[in-house]
Amino acid sequence: MIDEKLKHVAIIMDGNGRWAEARGKKRSAGHKAGSDALEKIALHAVDIGLKYLSVYAFSTDNFKRSEEEVNYLMNLFIEMFSKNYKRLLEKGVKVVFSGAREGLRADVLEAMDDIVEKSAKNTNATLNVCLNYGGREEIIRAAERYHDDLVSGKVQKGDIDRDSFNRYLDNDLPPIDILIRTGREKRVSNFMLYQLYYAEMYFTDTLFPDFTPEMLDDIIADFYGVERRFGGINYEKSAS
Ligand code: FPP
Repeated sequence: MIDEKLKHVAIIMDGNGRWAEARGKKRSAGHKAGSDALEKIALHAVDIGLKYLSVYAFSTDNFKRSEEEVNYLMNLFIEMFSKNYKRLLEKGVKVVFSGAREGLRADVLEAMDDIVEKSAKNTNATLNVCLNYGGREEIIRAAERYHDDLVSGKVQKGDIDRDSFNRYLDNDLPPIDILIRTGREKRVSNFMLYQLYYAEMYFTDTLFPDFTPEMLDDIIADFYGVERRFGGINYEKSAS
């Protein structure tokens, strides 16, 4: 079903905390369930031929959460990148990260570097994990890299246009075709601002741990203008 028209899907994975609270569990249980949901979605995305999947794992603002929750999430990232995402590597997924390294624990950086290195030669699909990430911050980092190239004479003023500027971002990814936000809110929340410029946006009330591969299929079908059963999703679409 997927062709050249759809290369890049991005997901703001919201609602883990509410999912846990609704079950009388700690927020951490919601993050664990969210990471299991993400693994299923990512494996499915490769199976259906999606080339790029970006996910918002941790925003720079998420550091304002309790120390307990931040630590839990960081340990979960380590566990996921070093063990559980083995199946993604077996499927030929290349893992990359967007975001600032400064402020992240050494053991988290080590797990990130490890999976990037292990998956560097994979070509079936790319999973871009946005961690310690902010979209405006990424644009500032890109501007600084561009500035360095101007100063060193590697590029001249006027050489770079809105497409080639992409290479200064944390990763040189194609524009986002579909943005999905789970968990009811209808905001972009400083996520991949440069890459979202023409994205179709889908907002669903479903909390991220309950978001399934079938729901992704429904959204993709809608993007292609195909009628499907819409898997019970109540989403709104705003085409740009
Ligand atoms: C937002 O839900 C979610 C997060 C801040 C973390 C997202 C992380 C995962 C899905 C875990 C796994 C990710 C990787 C890459 C291994 P929330 O806590 O803001 O939910 P709430 O709005 O209901 O409180």
